[in-house]
Amino acid sequence: MPTPDSLTTAQHHDFDLEVTSGAWPSDIAGEVIFSAPRFDDALPSGLFGFGCVARLALRPATHGAPADRFAWRVRTIESPGKRLHDLVPDVFTANSVGYQSPFGPPNASNTAPLVWGDRLFSTWDAGRPVELDPATLDYLADVGSIDSWGGPIFGTETMLPTILSSAHPVIDPDRNGMWSTRLRPVLSPSFGMALSVMWWDGEGTEVAVWPLRDIVFGGSTHTVSQTRDWLVLSDSGNFRADPGEMFGGERTVTVEDDAPVWLVRKDQLLATPPGTPVDAICLRVAPPSGHFYARYDDSEGISVIWEGMDLTDLGLSLRPDDLDIHGRPIAPTAARLYNMAMAPSTLMEVHFDPTSGAVTERAVRRDEWAFNLQLSAMDWSVAGQEHPTYHHVDFQGCRPGAVSQRAATLYDGRIDRAQLGEETPGRLVTFRRGSLEVVSAWEYPDTAELISSPTFVPRTRSTDDRSEGGTHAGDTANHPGGHDGYVVQPVLSDSGFRVELFDAAAVGAGPIATLRGTRRECVPLILHSAWQADGAVRRDADRLRFSDEINEARLAGLDDAQRRAVQQVASDLDAQASR
Ligand SMILES: [Fe+2]
Repeated sequence: MPTPDSLTTAQHHDFDLEVTSGAWPSDIAGEVIFSAPRFDDALPSGLFGFGCVARLALRPATHGAPADRFAWRVRTIESPGKRLHDLVPDVFTANSVGYQSPFGPPNASNTAPLVWGDRLFSTWDAGRPVELDPATLDYLADVGSIDSWGGPIFGTETMLPTILSSAHPVIDPDRNGMWSTRLRPVLSPSFGMALSVMWWDGEGTEVAVWPLRDIVFGGSTHTVSQTRDWLVLSDSGNFRADPGEMFGGERTVTVEDDAPVWLVRKDQLLATPPGTPVDAICLRVAPPSGHFYARYDDSEGISVIWEGMDLTDLGLSLRPDDLDIHGRPIAPTAARLYNMAMAPSTLMEVHFDPTSGAVTERAVRRDEWAFNLQLSAMDWSVAGQEHPTYHHVDFQGCRPGAVSQRAATLYDGRIDRAQLGEETPGRLVTFRRGSLEVVSAWEYPDTAELISSPTFVPRTRSTDDRSEGGTHAGDTANHPGGHDGYVVQPVLSDSGFRVELFDAAAVGAGPIATLRGTRRECVPLILHSAWQADGAVRRDADRLRFSDEINEARLAGLDDAQRRAVQQVASDLDAQASR
């Protein structure tokens, strides 16, 4: 049993959870937002379905849950692309990277929630960030007009643009704006992606984009990280598009053993007219990493926790006819999930010196149990980013039943089959930032279960404190850094989804409380998560409207029915925005 069947067979739906063990603390509030793709039988990869967001309430009797129950509420993101798909589904065709249509590719926006104060966004690597109503989770707007992102990257104007970006933009606390990336395919000096930086100040329909001079590479920029003065970008390396596969061939592209890293000065960007090339400093780090997080305080240099994803190829999907690395048929329910890690994951604390170009590995962990490093939890408060203390990491364990022979053949000579002998427990592990000493760890020996994105939740003033102090729920009263608060750990299981709550200072003591669905409901694959304080409501802002983007060039390739669908979606969204 490599992964729970319910990862792909359960349906996203609303339900309520109850405390089934331990005691739920009173000094926790807000909600955890999860991003997820909806599984779609038409798509060969489960990672490209239309996005939805799930909200887990951290206080009982909120969001429609009765007393002593905790709400789990799911909304599909009703983006323009999703609405067009629902109106004229027959013109949408599936390929290895999602849907294509005469309107262009829809923005799946299924990977990560991004909280910016009282605003909420949803992200995807192959689309613009999308703003959601933090109260209702309704779609509000895509970030930035097509033109301000630089126009169509393949030359043809469409209503739904191809915009290759980052699933993890960052919010700059000093400059109050969003940093992300934009990739543009180029043929010279060789086929690859030219890299630009995107900046948005949170208002209006225009983003600023600066190309980075002479940077062309072959992958993607899944994560954007930052210090006070620097942006840290990297070729994520764990997802590589394979043009041959897109045209129906077998996958031949593999992940690299190391990856380029680029450092760009923020103030240099903001002092340069958009569109003008800016220089970046290029370094290399091994292994590639999907996720890395710089310490915001760069007074002693640039220090980054580097969550290596050694020999994890997110572009390799499992097929129904695949055999696993031991020759056993892949579980039918695992088809369309990605091929899991083929080596233990390396975790590093890396120091970058932008002056000398030196990369120093301050601390390195390559534990043999560290398979499938898959998402982490940290304190995203400004003070927590400046001086992080604890970093909580999920390792899902070795899953040879979800490693295909096809993948093993493609990576022949690069993998150690002896390391993929049997399934091993998942672990939630707390590392001390800097030294990467293991502070504490909790093991999940049931390999039929899968732990998913953990979230750090800062301690909140207790109810008593609030009534005495006159403050409102959501005020944090913790010591920042990641050790003073809670870790919310979802566990995907065929015997019922559960949420385990840990004291962030002592995850090894086990969960202090557990929530389960009152009917032992299951939850399918979920991706990143983020904590949001209570009480956020839609704020007034000048947002992009789908109707703003309609022009004759973008309608030119559409027939009358498709043009009517565009007008219908524009009309519906404008009506929603005016309510
Ligand atoms: Fe990610």
